[in-house]
Amino acid sequence: MPAKLVKTHMPIHTTHIPNVFSIEEGGNTRLVTKNLTPNIQVYGEKLITVDGIEYRLWSHHRSKLAGMIEKGMNIPFKEDSRVLYLGAASGTTASHVSDIVAKGRVFAVEFSARTMRDLIAVCSQRSNMVPIFADARQPGSYKAIAGSVDVVYQDVAQPNQAEIALVNAREFLKPGGYLIMVIKARSVDSTVNPKMVYEQELDKLVEEFNLLDKKVLRPYHPDHLAVIAQRKQL
Ligand SMILES: C[S@@+](CC[C@H](N)C(=O)[O-])C[C@H]1O[C@@H](n2cnc3c(N)ncnc32)[C@H](O)[C@@H]1O
Repeated sequence: MPAKLVKTHMPIHTTHIPNVFSIEEGGNTRLVTKNLTPNIQVYGEKLITVDGIEYRLWSHHRSKLAGMIEKGMNIPFKEDSRVLYLGAASGTTASHVSDIVAKGRVFAVEFSARTMRDLIAVCSQRSNMVPIFADARQPGSYKAIAGSVDVVYQDVAQPNQAEIALVNAREFLKPGGYLIMVIKARSVDSTVNPKMVYEQELDKLVEEFNLLDKKVLRPYHPDHLAVIAQRKQL
């Protein structure tokens, strides 16, 4: 079925992130990304055309990365960034990252076979996305595919989230490169106060990373802490 396009003359505003804009929609300010693949929807999101350019609506309720932008975090993507995306699921947020790094690459790692089918379909329509069917706890298994990257983006529901970030950063992240990570407190330990879980996970990163920013994603994504850190030049 062809995608439904909405044409509007509403003003559109740039943000600090390439290919991410804000627009007035239904009385609210909403985030959009410039669609790398015009006329193609990824997950039924609304397509909006302004002055002949097509954008995809990006909900901060659905995507933790959009939630971070909504919360005012400084997201270190450039248009040519190479991004290792751990926990890509069916490619919803990863497809917006693909819009953002239009001249770069997104290496999208996922280990659920069922979800992988959807992710492969998304990647087949986007020339800068590479699907990787692998376990993020075993970075050696995709070493030959990904190569060195500017950003590691991590959103995996696993108990050992800091360790997964560290092993992937050591394998792929350039010194001075960035880690964007969502710590899901309930996946680490559902019996402990989320604040303690966040501190415990952040403590594991400090030797190798400088912490730049952290924000709880409430109310959009309760019990999730978003972290942006820069790899030290050791
Ligand atoms: C919260 S979902 C990710 C949602 C996605 N980032 C988005 O915003 O569209 C977490 C995903 O991580 C995947 N995952 C969990 N542990 C993993 C691992 N060790 N290796 C690869 N993927 C993993 C799960 O299968 C799931 O699809």
